[in-house]
Amino acid sequence: MKMGSGLLYALVLFLLMGTVFTQRNRPKKPIKPKTTGEKPSVPEPEPQEPTDFPPPILSHQSFFPDCPRECFCSPSYPNTMNCENRNIRNIPVIPFRTHYLYLQNNYISEVTPEPFLNATEVRWVNLANNRIHRINKQVFEKIPALLYLYAQKNHLKEVPLGLPASLEQLRLGRNRISKIPAGAFSKMGNLTLLDLYYNQLSDSDLKTSQFKDLKNLIQLNLAHNILKKMPAGVPKSLIQLFLDRNRIDDIPKDYFKGLSHLAFLRLNHNQLNDKGLPKGVFNISTLLDLQLAHNQLSSVPLINVHLEHLHLNHNSIESINGTQICPFNPLFDVSDDNQMPKLRYLRLDGNHLSPPIPMDVIMCFRHLHSIVI
Ligand SMILES: *[C@@H]1O[C@H](CO)[C@@H](O)[C@H](O)[C@H]1NC(C)=O
Ligand SMILES: *[C@@H]1O[C@H](CO)[C@@H](O)[C@H](O)[C@H]1NC(C)=O
Ligand SMILES: *[C@@H]1O[C@H](CO)[C@@H](O)[C@H](O)[C@H]1NC(C)=O
Ligand SMILES: *[C@@H]1O[C@H](CO)[C@@H](O)[C@H](O)[C@H]1NC(C)=O
Repeated sequence: MKMGSGLLYALVLFLLMGTVFTQRNRPKKPIKPKTTGEKPSVPEPEPQEPTDFPPPILSHQSFFPDCPRECFCSPSYPNTMNCENRNIRNIPVIPFRTHYLYLQNNYISEVTPEPFLNATEVRWVNLANNRIHRINKQVFEKIPALLYLYAQKNHLKEVPLGLPASLEQLRLGRNRISKIPAGAFSKMGNLTLLDLYYNQLSDSDLKTSQFKDLKNLIQLNLAHNILKKMPAGVPKSLIQLFLDRNRIDDIPKDYFKGLSHLAFLRLNHNQLNDKGLPKGVFNISTLLDLQLAHNQLSSVPLINVHLEHLHLNHNSIESINGTQICPFNPLFDVSDDNQMPKLRYLRLDGNHLSPPIPMDVIMCFRHLHSIVI
């Protein structure tokens, strides 16, 4: 079944809104202590208590007697506990009424089950930008209704074990993850977003079986890792697949077969060349946005009539033949707009091309309203 592009956009917009929302809620970073200058080559020392960090910022007595002093509990939002930007090292005891828990931008180094003993109703936890190197798996037994777990920008080396089956969004980008324990994502049939951006994952960490239970996954972000191959066994439900900044140099012939919802594919900053791309590999009828910038392609790959955005900037393309790349079938009725190639935006800058844009390109892509050459 093909999804309407209106629905796809609605879904994507929804995901984007999620991002904007979390960013808006992320106030200023805590001031970095001068004593822990980060040197990339030397492993960072474990934070030393208590002199290493500025003291926690405490609130006045809250409207709620059970509100920890390190946090703010607004009377207007009884289900929300705001503990972000407080120089906290340890998670305080979380009251039962909490559904939304904000702990981002602190100095938390480990997540243990004790603070969560009564927190059975927690739905969202934001732990972004801390120093977490371990999330004890018993934490998740305490919070079985968890929907969103944001733990990007921490020091995790592995995907945490025991993640609840209820989870819908999991953000683990900008950690040091080089291992996904077997079965880490098992039974997570409700997960729609999995973000493992900017970690140290290699091909051997992504075994085919790893993703098999993620039957509703919409967005998979594996950008900025050290993959040499396309990840195997990605869920068929995917709409967005982001693989930028890896070391991928080829794509198996039938890789996208069965990914019948895929609309956004990003492979910018990889090592793709013409030899590694089977003919017609990107001729995917659901695809709306294809990004192949900063690779080593020397010709324009075949695209589908439905594709709207194509990024081919910073490759080695020397010429472009509008007749050869036109996905338009001349046997179809020209007056039928459905048969027309839908390409609206094309980037070709940073190649060995110079203006003018060839006439046959303009003749083929009549919806094109922006081309960068
Ligand atoms: C959990 O809640 C109960 C009842 O509200 C309370 O007596 C108990 O102290 C709480 N436990 C913790 C660890 O906060
Ligand atoms: C997954 O989502 C459905 C629909 O919202 C819900 O009924 C079900 O309980 C969820 N599964 C888990 C394991 O939470
Ligand atoms: C691209 O795929 C369509 C089906 O979506 C097919 O009809 C067409 O022949 C393919 N084009 C090329 C050049 O392979
Ligand atoms: C473009 O390709 C077509 C079909 O392969 C060929 O007939 C034509 O001469 C080419 N145009 C240029 C300018 O090379």
